[in-house]
Amino acid sequence: MRCKKMVDVGRRQFLRGGAVAAAGAAVSTIAPAPAKAGPANAQLDYPSNKLANLSDLAVNEPMDIEYPDADSPGILLKLGEAVEGGAGPDNDIVAYSVLCPHKGWYLTYNGEDRSLNCPGHYSRFDAEAGGQQIWGHATQNLPQFTLRVDDNGDIYAEGCSDLIFGRPSNVI
Ligand code: FES
Repeated sequence: MRCKKMVDVGRRQFLRGGAVAAAGAAVSTIAPAPAKAGPANAQLDYPSNKLANLSDLAVNEPMDIEYPDADSPGILLKLGEAVEGGAGPDNDIVAYSVLCPHKGWYLTYNGEDRSLNCPGHYSRFDAEAGGQQIWGHATQNLPQFTLRVDDNGDIYAEGCSDLIFGRPSNVI
């Protein structure tokens, strides 16, 4: 008889514990821990730098530029036909960093196929397609500078599509 009571007490305690555990599980399912706030998007304050005037450019002849500062070489280029992202009245002006995204070698422009080419490990980038990588070791497209042309034909760089080689941030 005593033994049976002990079994009954044990069963009640077991069931009570199970109910508490189930309630806890239900609460945790219904009310998950609040999510931590994510980091704010990085908003860079790009400078608006005048690069040239429309009258300075000839089709398929790249002009050396620097953007967003003197330690970031690039080229400004009038392609002669409209391309996606092209600026100016003919939507054909583009600008790119000339530091290879792989290991920072200086790229050279090939006017025949309108590509930027790396002498280091031979990555290639398409100047008519927003700097898209054609081939090679690089793991990102070529950073393209955002351009604006004002009513006087002055061309300004005001942003950049990707991280410039060697930088923790494009604006430093
Ligand atoms: Fe350009 Fe390696 S530095 S492909």
